[in-house]
Amino acid sequence: MALRCGLIGGRLIHSYSPQIHAKLGDYEYKLYELREDEVGPFLKSGCFDGLNVTIPYKKTVVPFLDELSEDAARLGSVNTVIRRSDGTLYGDNTDIFGALKLLELSGAGVAGKKVLVLGSGGTGVTFMDAVGKLGGIAVNISRKGEDNYENLDRHIDAEIVMNATPVGMYPDTGKSPVDLDLLPNVKCVLDAIYNPAATELLLQARKRGIKALNGLCMLVAQALRSSELFTGKKLPDNIIPEVTEKIAAEMYGYIPDTVGIGRAWAAPRPENKLNFLVINGPNLNMLGIREPEVYGKAGYKALLEFIRKSADEAGVNIRCFQSNHEGAIVDEIQGAYGNTDGIIINPAAYTHTSVAILDALKAVSIPAVEVHISDVSSREPFRQISYAGMACIKTFAGMGFEGYRQAIKHLKQYLTETTEKAYNS
Ligand code: DQA
Repeated sequence: MALRCGLIGGRLIHSYSPQIHAKLGDYEYKLYELREDEVGPFLKSGCFDGLNVTIPYKKTVVPFLDELSEDAARLGSVNTVIRRSDGTLYGDNTDIFGALKLLELSGAGVAGKKVLVLGSGGTGVTFMDAVGKLGGIAVNISRKGEDNYENLDRHIDAEIVMNATPVGMYPDTGKSPVDLDLLPNVKCVLDAIYNPAATELLLQARKRGIKALNGLCMLVAQALRSSELFTGKKLPDNIIPEVTEKIAAEMYGYIPDTVGIGRAWAAPRPENKLNFLVINGPNLNMLGIREPEVYGKAGYKALLEFIRKSADEAGVNIRCFQSNHEGAIVDEIQGAYGNTDGIIINPAAYTHTSVAILDALKAVSIPAVEVHISDVSSREPFRQISYAGMACIKTFAGMGFEGYRQAIKHLKQYLTETTEKAYNS
């Protein structure tokens, strides 16, 4: 029989936990909306093997458990309950792992930095604990605390802000717990909220051009640790970004840059240029020597210089790759996953034969533009099909080197517009 797992909480209709757990393990995962007086009897009923616990019962469950992990005991909060073979109940807290992952994936480097944690509820307490564990200087900001929203000027030196309040959450969007302009030294904003993809606070951070990460990777990370506790099987932490992206694609219909990971749909940030990859296929290293009447007299080195100049002009980072081998090109495309915003590709002769290159472009789904130096459409019949082109947003052919410049320009414009559209919708 499949393991009987699930989630207990107050209101669960918006929960994404079933979809996340479906990507982590092979067990049943049901939602149980309970009233407070139903929590104890449910736990005693023994109708489950493993549970997640969410708002408002993370503390409610504690008296019904036989043993607590160190994290759960320290935080006084349980989000995972395991029913052991002898029927006893063990409570753990994997939210702390989620918070540590959020900080780690932000790349902010917490040690020695002042971190403002907004909100003093369960998530706020977890954030404070995680920051402390990583050697940061955590300051809790709450409406009624000593450090509050009226005296933020005390913390002008803060470098990171973490929101653990529900301010800005769907359906009450458009509000921010703080005005980021009051905190000029902040270089990274993390929000526990993941609906909407970018809260008002994260939008302010994006406007400043600093790191802005929502809570989806934290949700996935805590689920991963819980899944391990349910099944007893270790899962590699490095699947967290990938699972986060898959869930983001289902949840938002696209992968916003606020889920982090900085891949295909990353917004152009002032201090963080777009990363483009140029791939040239077989025989293009022979430019200048090969059929100069078709491809011109300039060599491959001149093409590289031209591409670099075009990239500088467009203000993007560029990496160039050339190979005469189909598999090496596939490897390069796969290697771009997770670190490249756009691909410019001249697959050369593989254009007309390679389904593998087409599949690789589709697999990574990084926006790509196809380039050909010659006007392939007016050449031999066997050049009239382009497999790679089927995965590209546009083709520039017959313009010589200029096609690469146009491709870079086009891709930059495309990515900028797509991101803006996504955020304005
Ligand atoms: C090419 C066109 C291809 O048909 C040919 O096989 C090449 C170069 C071009 O850039 O014009 O090698 O991709």
